[in-house]
Amino acid sequence: MVRSKILGVGMGIPERVLTNFDLEKMVDTSDEWIVQRTGIRERRISDTQTASSDLATVASLQAIESAGLTPQDIDLILVGTVTPDTLFPSTACLLQHKLGARQVPAYDFSAGCTGFIYGLVMAESFLNYGSYQHILVVGVESLSKITDWEDRSTCVLFGDAAGAVVVGKSEDASGILSTYLGADGSLGNLLYIPAGGSRLPATQRTLDQRQHYLKMEGNEVFKAAVNAMKMSAMQALKKAKMSKEDVDWLIPHQANIRIIDFLAKMLKLPREKVIVTIDKLGNTSAASIPTALAMAVQDGRIKPGHNVLMVAFGAGFTWGSVLVRW
Ligand code: UT7
Repeated sequence: MVRSKILGVGMGIPERVLTNFDLEKMVDTSDEWIVQRTGIRERRISDTQTASSDLATVASLQAIESAGLTPQDIDLILVGTVTPDTLFPSTACLLQHKLGARQVPAYDFSAGCTGFIYGLVMAESFLNYGSYQHILVVGVESLSKITDWEDRSTCVLFGDAAGAVVVGKSEDASGILSTYLGADGSLGNLLYIPAGGSRLPATQRTLDQRQHYLKMEGNEVFKAAVNAMKMSAMQALKKAKMSKEDVDWLIPHQANIRIIDFLAKMLKLPREKVIVTIDKLGNTSAASIPTALAMAVQDGRIKPGHNVLMVAFGAGFTWGSVLVRW
Protein backbone atom coordinates (compact mmCIF):
# COMPACT_ATOMS: atom_id res chain seq x y z
CA MET A 1 0.00 0.00 0.00
CA VAL A 2 1.18 3.52 -0.86
CA ARG A 3 1.17 5.93 2.06
CA SER A 4 -0.62 9.20 1.26
CA LYS A 5 0.67 12.51 2.48
CA ILE A 6 -0.55 16.09 2.60
CA LEU A 7 1.98 17.94 0.44
CA GLY A 8 0.58 21.47 0.74
CA VAL A 9 -2.11 23.46 2.54
CA GLY A 10 -4.05 26.63 1.75
CA MET A 11 -7.04 28.71 2.77
CA GLY A 12 -9.37 31.33 1.36
CA ILE A 13 -10.98 33.56 3.99
CA PRO A 14 -13.35 36.44 3.12
CA GLU A 15 -12.28 39.88 4.36
CA ARG A 16 -15.56 41.05 5.89
CA VAL A 17 -15.80 40.42 9.62
CA LEU A 18 -19.22 40.08 11.27
CA THR A 19 -18.91 40.36 15.06
CA ASN A 20 -21.30 39.28 17.79
CA PHE A 21 -21.93 42.97 18.41
CA ASP A 22 -23.03 43.37 14.77
CA LEU A 23 -25.44 40.45 15.30
CA GLU A 24 -26.86 42.10 18.43
CA LYS A 25 -28.22 44.76 16.06
CA MET A 26 -29.81 42.16 13.76
CA VAL A 27 -31.52 39.63 16.08
CA ASP A 28 -32.38 39.24 19.77
CA THR A 29 -29.02 37.93 20.96
CA SER A 30 -25.95 39.02 22.93
CA ASP A 31 -22.21 38.70 22.68
CA GLU A 32 -22.29 37.10 26.12
CA TRP A 33 -24.75 34.35 25.08
CA ILE A 34 -22.88 33.55 21.88
CA VAL A 35 -19.43 33.43 23.54
CA GLN A 36 -20.64 31.33 26.49
CA ARG A 37 -22.73 28.85 24.50
CA THR A 38 -20.49 28.53 21.40
CA GLY A 39 -17.07 30.21 21.82
CA ILE A 40 -17.68 32.30 18.69
CA ARG A 41 -16.71 36.00 18.75
CA GLU A 42 -16.75 36.79 15.04
CA ARG A 43 -17.10 35.11 11.66
CA ARG A 44 -16.20 35.99 8.06
CA ILE A 45 -18.87 36.68 5.48
CA SER A 46 -18.25 36.77 1.74
CA ASP A 47 -19.69 39.55 -0.41
CA THR A 48 -22.54 39.13 -2.89
CA GLN A 49 -20.11 38.66 -5.79
CA THR A 50 -18.23 35.79 -4.13
CA ALA A 51 -19.34 32.16 -4.39
CA SER A 52 -17.79 28.95 -3.07
CA SER A 53 -15.67 28.35 -6.18
CA ASP A 54 -14.04 31.78 -5.69
CA LEU A 55 -13.00 31.00 -2.11
CA ALA A 56 -11.93 27.51 -3.22
CA THR A 57 -9.72 28.96 -5.95
CA VAL A 58 -7.79 31.12 -3.46
CA ALA A 59 -7.31 28.19 -1.07
CA SER A 60 -6.35 25.78 -3.85
CA LEU A 61 -3.74 28.05 -5.45
CA GLN A 62 -2.12 28.49 -2.03
CA ALA A 63 -2.14 24.73 -1.37
CA ILE A 64 -0.74 23.91 -4.81
CA GLU A 65 2.02 26.50 -4.46
CA SER A 66 2.94 25.35 -0.96
CA ALA A 67 3.26 21.79 -2.33
CA GLY A 68 5.78 23.15 -4.85
CA LEU A 69 3.44 22.32 -7.73
CA THR A 70 1.40 24.13 -10.40
CA PRO A 71 -2.28 23.61 -11.31
CA GLN A 72 -1.02 21.56 -14.30
CA ASP A 73 0.29 18.94 -11.86
CA ILE A 74 -3.15 18.26 -10.33
CA ASP A 75 -4.81 15.14 -11.71
CA LEU A 76 -7.99 14.86 -9.62
CA ILE A 77 -10.16 17.51 -7.91
CA LEU A 78 -12.47 16.62 -4.99
CA VAL A 79 -14.66 19.30 -3.40
CA GLY A 80 -16.66 18.77 -0.21
CA THR A 81 -19.41 21.37 0.12
CA VAL A 82 -23.08 21.83 1.01
CA THR A 83 -23.05 25.30 -0.54
CA PRO A 84 -22.01 24.78 -4.17
CA ASP A 85 -22.17 27.74 -6.58
CA THR A 86 -25.07 25.98 -8.34
CA LEU A 87 -26.76 22.58 -7.93
CA PHE A 88 -24.88 21.69 -11.09
CA PRO A 89 -22.39 21.89 -12.66
CA SER A 90 -20.26 21.00 -9.67
CA THR A 91 -18.10 23.54 -7.87
CA ALA A 92 -15.20 21.15 -8.55
CA CYS A 93 -15.65 21.61 -12.32
CA LEU A 94 -15.86 25.39 -11.91
CA LEU A 95 -12.71 25.22 -9.80
CA GLN A 96 -10.90 23.14 -12.42
CA HIS A 97 -11.61 25.87 -14.97
CA LYS A 98 -10.66 28.75 -12.63
CA LEU A 99 -7.37 27.07 -11.71
CA GLY A 100 -6.49 26.50 -15.36
CA ALA A 101 -5.99 22.85 -14.49
CA ARG A 102 -5.86 20.12 -17.12
CA GLN A 103 -9.09 18.32 -18.11
CA VAL A 104 -8.82 16.07 -15.07
CA PRO A 105 -11.74 14.44 -13.22
CA ALA A 106 -13.49 16.80 -10.83
CA TYR A 107 -16.57 16.30 -8.66
CA ASP A 108 -18.37 17.52 -5.54
CA PHE A 109 -19.59 15.41 -2.69
CA SER A 110 -21.95 16.24 0.16
CA ALA A 111 -20.89 15.07 3.60
CA GLY A 112 -21.76 18.17 5.63
CA CYS A 113 -19.13 19.27 8.10
CA THR A 114 -17.32 15.94 7.61
CA GLY A 115 -16.73 16.85 3.95
CA PHE A 116 -13.00 17.42 4.22
CA ILE A 117 -12.43 14.18 6.14
CA TYR A 118 -14.46 12.22 3.55
CA GLY A 119 -12.38 13.93 0.84
CA LEU A 120 -9.07 12.96 2.42
CA VAL A 121 -10.17 9.32 2.69
CA MET A 122 -11.26 9.33 -0.99
CA ALA A 123 -7.92 10.88 -1.98
CA GLU A 124 -6.06 8.15 -0.11
CA SER A 125 -8.07 5.45 -1.91
CA PHE A 126 -7.56 7.05 -5.32
CA LEU A 127 -3.84 7.32 -4.67
CA ASN A 128 -3.67 3.64 -3.82
CA TYR A 129 -5.62 2.85 -6.97
CA GLY A 130 -2.52 4.09 -8.74
CA SER A 131 -3.75 6.38 -11.50
CA TYR A 132 -3.44 9.66 -9.66
CA GLN A 133 -0.35 11.39 -8.26
CA HIS A 134 -1.50 14.78 -7.00
CA ILE A 135 -5.05 15.09 -5.70
CA LEU A 136 -6.58 18.41 -4.71
CA VAL A 137 -9.00 18.08 -1.76
CA VAL A 138 -11.08 21.15 -0.88
CA GLY A 139 -13.57 21.88 1.89
CA VAL A 140 -15.48 25.06 1.09
CA GLU A 141 -18.65 26.72 2.34
CA SER A 142 -20.59 29.91 1.80
CA LEU A 143 -22.93 29.27 4.70
CA SER A 144 -23.93 32.93 4.96
CA LYS A 145 -25.87 32.37 1.72
CA ILE A 146 -28.09 29.64 3.24
CA THR A 147 -28.40 31.21 6.70
CA ASP A 148 -31.72 32.61 7.88
CA TRP A 149 -30.59 35.98 9.23
CA GLU A 150 -33.86 36.25 11.18
CA ASP A 151 -33.30 32.98 13.09
CA ARG A 152 -31.13 33.69 16.13
CA SER A 153 -30.74 29.98 16.92
CA THR A 154 -28.66 29.44 13.75
CA CYS A 155 -27.50 32.77 12.32
CA VAL A 156 -24.97 33.39 15.08
CA LEU A 157 -23.15 30.13 14.33
CA PHE A 158 -21.92 30.05 10.75
CA GLY A 159 -19.32 31.66 8.52
CA ASP A 160 -17.73 31.37 5.08
CA ALA A 161 -14.29 29.94 4.21
CA ALA A 162 -12.35 27.50 2.08
CA GLY A 163 -9.48 25.20 2.96
CA ALA A 164 -7.51 23.03 0.55
CA VAL A 165 -4.75 20.45 0.55
CA VAL A 166 -2.79 18.57 -2.10
CA VAL A 167 -2.45 14.87 -1.37
CA GLY A 168 0.37 12.84 -2.92
CA LYS A 169 2.61 9.87 -2.25
CA SER A 170 4.73 9.82 0.89
CA GLU A 171 8.41 9.01 0.47
CA ASP A 172 9.04 8.49 4.19
CA ALA A 173 7.27 7.65 7.49
CA SER A 174 5.05 10.75 7.36
CA GLY A 175 1.52 10.73 5.99
CA ILE A 176 -1.93 9.33 6.71
CA LEU A 177 -1.70 6.68 9.44
CA SER A 178 -5.36 5.73 9.78
CA THR A 179 -8.87 6.81 8.81
CA TYR A 180 -12.40 6.15 9.98
CA LEU A 181 -15.79 7.14 8.47
CA GLY A 182 -19.43 6.64 9.38
CA ALA A 183 -22.96 7.89 8.62
CA ASP A 184 -26.54 7.59 9.88
CA GLY A 185 -29.23 8.94 7.55
CA SER A 186 -32.05 8.30 10.04
CA LEU A 187 -31.13 11.54 11.81
CA GLY A 188 -30.79 13.67 8.68
CA ASN A 189 -33.75 15.94 9.44
CA LEU A 190 -32.07 17.36 12.55
CA LEU A 191 -29.78 19.44 10.34
CA TYR A 192 -30.94 20.19 6.80
CA ILE A 193 -32.42 22.51 4.20
CA PRO A 194 -36.04 21.45 3.58
CA ALA A 195 -36.63 22.87 0.10
CA GLY A 196 -34.85 23.39 -3.20
CA GLY A 197 -34.21 19.73 -3.97
CA SER A 198 -36.36 17.10 -5.68
CA ARG A 199 -38.39 16.47 -2.48
CA LEU A 200 -39.66 20.03 -2.21
CA PRO A 201 -38.83 22.10 -5.29
CA ALA A 202 -38.72 25.88 -5.06
CA THR A 203 -42.14 27.52 -5.13
CA GLN A 204 -43.47 30.83 -3.86
CA ARG A 205 -44.74 28.91 -0.83
CA THR A 206 -41.34 27.41 0.05
CA LEU A 207 -39.85 30.88 -0.28
CA ASP A 208 -42.54 32.46 1.92
CA GLN A 209 -42.00 29.74 4.55
CA ARG A 210 -38.23 30.33 4.53
CA GLN A 211 -37.63 26.69 3.69
CA HIS A 212 -34.51 27.34 1.64
CA TYR A 213 -32.54 28.16 4.77
CA LEU A 214 -30.56 25.82 7.01
CA LYS A 215 -32.58 24.36 9.92
CA MET A 216 -31.00 22.73 12.95
CA GLU A 217 -32.16 21.11 16.19
CA GLY A 218 -29.06 22.35 18.01
CA ASN A 219 -29.45 20.35 21.20
CA GLU A 220 -29.94 17.01 19.48
CA VAL A 221 -27.11 17.66 17.05
CA PHE A 222 -24.86 18.62 19.96
CA LYS A 223 -25.41 15.27 21.73
CA ALA A 224 -24.88 13.24 18.56
CA ALA A 225 -21.75 15.25 17.69
CA VAL A 226 -20.13 14.61 21.07
CA ASN A 227 -20.68 10.85 20.86
CA ALA A 228 -19.70 10.43 17.22
CA MET A 229 -16.58 12.59 17.51
CA LYS A 230 -15.44 10.73 20.60
CA MET A 231 -15.92 7.39 18.85
CA SER A 232 -14.20 8.63 15.66
CA ALA A 233 -11.17 9.89 17.56
CA MET A 234 -10.77 6.57 19.39
CA GLN A 235 -11.25 4.52 16.20
CA ALA A 236 -8.50 6.37 14.33
CA LEU A 237 -6.11 5.82 17.24
CA LYS A 238 -7.07 2.14 17.54
CA LYS A 239 -6.60 1.50 13.83
CA ALA A 240 -3.13 3.10 13.97
CA LYS A 241 -2.33 1.13 17.16
CA MET A 242 -1.64 4.40 18.92
CA SER A 243 -2.83 5.86 22.22
CA LYS A 244 -4.15 9.23 23.35
CA GLU A 245 -0.66 10.13 24.59
CA ASP A 246 0.69 9.92 21.02
CA VAL A 247 -1.46 12.82 19.79
CA ASP A 248 0.47 16.08 19.37
CA TRP A 249 -2.37 18.11 17.86
CA LEU A 250 -6.13 17.76 17.78
CA ILE A 251 -7.98 19.49 14.95
CA PRO A 252 -11.69 19.03 15.67
CA HIS A 253 -14.50 20.33 13.51
CA GLN A 254 -15.26 23.80 14.86
CA ALA A 255 -18.97 23.72 15.74
CA ASN A 256 -18.95 24.60 19.43
CA ILE A 257 -16.13 25.25 21.92
CA ARG A 258 -17.95 23.05 24.43
CA ILE A 259 -17.72 20.06 22.04
CA ILE A 260 -14.06 20.88 21.35
CA ASP A 261 -13.26 21.09 25.09
CA PHE A 262 -15.06 17.80 25.74
CA LEU A 263 -12.97 16.04 23.09
CA ALA A 264 -9.74 17.58 24.36
CA LYS A 265 -10.54 16.46 27.90
CA MET A 266 -11.36 12.96 26.72
CA LEU A 267 -7.99 12.82 24.93
CA LYS A 268 -6.27 14.41 27.98
CA LEU A 269 -4.94 17.21 25.78
CA PRO A 270 -4.43 20.75 27.14
CA ARG A 271 -6.12 23.57 25.14
CA GLU A 272 -2.65 24.55 23.77
CA LYS A 273 -2.58 21.27 21.84
CA VAL A 274 -5.95 21.89 20.21
CA ILE A 275 -6.23 24.01 17.08
CA VAL A 276 -9.12 26.39 17.69
CA THR A 277 -10.44 28.83 15.09
CA ILE A 278 -14.08 28.96 16.12
CA ASP A 279 -13.64 32.29 17.96
CA LYS A 280 -12.55 33.98 14.71
CA LEU A 281 -14.32 32.00 11.98
CA GLY A 282 -17.40 30.42 13.57
CA ASN A 283 -18.62 27.14 12.12
CA THR A 284 -17.50 26.90 8.48
CA SER A 285 -18.66 23.29 8.02
CA ALA A 286 -16.46 21.42 5.50
CA ALA A 287 -13.92 24.28 5.56
CA SER A 288 -13.33 24.24 9.31
CA ILE A 289 -10.70 21.50 9.53
CA PRO A 290 -8.64 22.38 6.42
CA THR A 291 -8.53 26.09 7.35
CA ALA A 292 -7.47 25.23 10.92
CA LEU A 293 -4.83 22.87 9.52
CA ALA A 294 -3.55 25.49 7.07
CA MET A 295 -3.27 28.10 9.85
CA ALA A 296 -1.40 25.78 12.21
CA VAL A 297 1.01 24.62 9.50
CA GLN A 298 1.60 28.14 8.20
CA ASP A 299 2.27 29.61 11.67
CA GLY A 300 4.67 26.77 12.51
CA ARG A 301 2.71 25.07 15.29
CA ILE A 302 2.47 21.78 13.40
CA LYS A 303 5.96 20.51 12.65
CA PRO A 304 7.37 17.46 10.84
CA GLY A 305 6.95 14.33 12.95
CA HIS A 306 3.92 15.60 14.87
CA ASN A 307 0.87 13.35 15.06
CA VAL A 308 -2.24 15.30 14.06
CA LEU A 309 -5.71 13.93 14.76
CA MET A 310 -8.55 15.46 12.72
CA VAL A 311 -12.11 14.64 13.80
CA ALA A 312 -15.40 15.78 12.29
CA PHE A 313 -19.17 15.45 12.57
CA GLY A 314 -21.89 16.93 10.40
CA ALA A 315 -25.13 16.85 8.46
CA GLY A 316 -26.22 13.45 7.26
CA PHE A 317 -25.33 12.60 9.96
CA THR A 318 -21.77 11.90 8.94
CA TRP A 319 -18.63 11.58 11.02
CA GLY A 320 -15.02 10.57 10.64
CA SER A 321 -11.39 11.01 11.55
CA VAL A 322 -7.97 11.03 9.94
CA LEU A 323 -4.73 10.58 11.87
CA VAL A 324 -1.68 12.02 10.13
CA ARG A 325 2.02 12.03 10.93
CA TRP A 326 3.18 15.40 9.62
O1 UT7 B 1 -21.53 21.65 12.37
C1 UT7 B 1 -22.37 20.54 12.39
C2 UT7 B 1 -22.64 20.10 13.75
N1 UT7 B 1 -23.24 21.17 14.50
C3 UT7 B 1 -23.14 21.17 15.82
O2 UT7 B 1 -22.46 20.31 16.34
C4 UT7 B 1 -23.89 22.19 16.59
C5 UT7 B 1 -24.36 21.59 17.89
N2 UT7 B 1 -25.23 22.43 18.68
C6 UT7 B 1 -24.80 23.49 19.38
O3 UT7 B 1 -23.66 23.89 19.25
C7 UT7 B 1 -25.74 24.13 20.37
O4 UT7 B 1 -26.86 23.30 20.54
C8 UT7 B 1 -26.20 25.57 19.97
C9 UT7 B 1 -25.03 26.52 20.11
C10 UT7 B 1 -26.73 25.58 18.56
C11 UT7 B 1 -27.30 26.02 20.92
O5 UT7 B 1 -26.83 25.97 22.27
P1 UT7 B 1 -27.71 25.29 23.41
O6 UT7 B 1 -26.96 25.44 24.64
O7 UT7 B 1 -28.04 23.91 22.93
O8 UT7 B 1 -28.95 26.24 23.45
P2 UT7 B 1 -30.48 25.87 23.26
O9 UT7 B 1 -30.79 25.63 21.82
O10 UT7 B 1 -30.86 24.80 24.24
O11 UT7 B 1 -31.17 27.22 23.73
C12 UT7 B 1 -31.09 27.68 25.08
C13 UT7 B 1 -31.78 29.00 25.18
C14 UT7 B 1 -33.20 28.99 24.60
O12 UT7 B 1 -34.00 29.83 25.40
P3 UT7 B 1 -35.00 29.20 26.49
O13 UT7 B 1 -35.92 28.29 25.73
O14 UT7 B 1 -34.11 28.46 27.45
O15 UT7 B 1 -35.66 30.40 27.07
C15 UT7 B 1 -33.02 29.63 23.25
O16 UT7 B 1 -34.18 30.26 22.79
O17 UT7 B 1 -31.06 30.00 24.45
C16 UT7 B 1 -31.94 30.64 23.53
N3 UT7 B 1 -31.17 31.03 22.37
C17 UT7 B 1 -30.52 32.20 22.26
N4 UT7 B 1 -30.41 33.25 23.10
C18 UT7 B 1 -29.66 34.29 22.71
C19 UT7 B 1 -30.95 30.32 21.24
N5 UT7 B 1 -30.16 31.01 20.38
C20 UT7 B 1 -29.89 32.19 21.01
C21 UT7 B 1 -29.12 33.31 20.64
N6 UT7 B 1 -29.04 34.32 21.53
N7 UT7 B 1 -28.45 33.38 19.48
